[in-house]
Amino acid sequence: MEVVIRPTAAEGSCLAADLVESVVATTPRAVLGLATGSSPVGLYDELGHRVATGRVSFAGCRAFLLDEYVGLPTGHPQRYRSVIDEIFVRQVGMSSDSVDGPNGNASDLAEACVEYERRITEAGGVDIQLLGLGSDGHDAFNEPSSSLASRTRLKTLTRRTREDNARFFGGDVAAVPRHCLTQGLGTILEARRIVLIAAGVSKAPAVRAMVEGPVSALVPASVLQLHPRVTVILDEPAASLLQLADYYREVWENKPAWQRP
Ligand code: GLP
Repeated sequence: MEVVIRPTAAEGSCLAADLVESVVATTPRAVLGLATGSSPVGLYDELGHRVATGRVSFAGCRAFLLDEYVGLPTGHPQRYRSVIDEIFVRQVGMSSDSVDGPNGNASDLAEACVEYERRITEAGGVDIQLLGLGSDGHDAFNEPSSSLASRTRLKTLTRRTREDNARFFGGDVAAVPRHCLTQGLGTILEARRIVLIAAGVSKAPAVRAMVEGPVSALVPASVLQLHPRVTVILDEPAASLLQLADYYREVWENKPAWQRP
């Protein structure tokens, strides 16, 4: 696991954009894995800027969402499918048709999950998966106790996640759906490259548990320790509880040029 600590979240977003840009430059038909939440917004803004200046193009790319709420009607502003159009797809000039997500309104949700896995496989799998981190250590919507081998399925959100996400629903926890469909941890681990972004002191305990704790279903994101190509990008507050922070800084400062994006 590569841990990169940047002084600010904005600098972290720029580094994440460099990584995405390097994948798209070498794989023009790259398959992107997209996260929602606030953590990747700076990255998406930066990528939009780079598209506008002609530095990168997503014209040949496809994308898959990590997760979706169950039961939010089409057009609801907090449906992740709507959110991603707003924060990413429009900015980078991709067509909405090239972006796919789990169908949280399917009459047969179990079948929708199987179908979603099939579509990811048919697309050739994910070249670069972008992730945030829940304050309870969840990835996508894989809440604590999720199977480390899980596939796309229905999950019940924890009270804590619903409280964290209430800010997107006018502060009303009751308005946050109880259920979601989410790629499983086993699904996420199949991405060829993973970039996780976390910022702010509220994420510090989850970051420490994910990076330096044992691999455990209690901290679902800790499963990323088993993936061969993960870059965790943190700002200083998010990194503030890491035992080996100085070592991670030293590694980054001395990283050979040929290994950089
Ligand atoms: C949600 C999403 C996750 C996201 C997490 C953190 O629960 N399903 O994909 O990583 O929240 O959100 P934020 O980046 O807003 O802190």
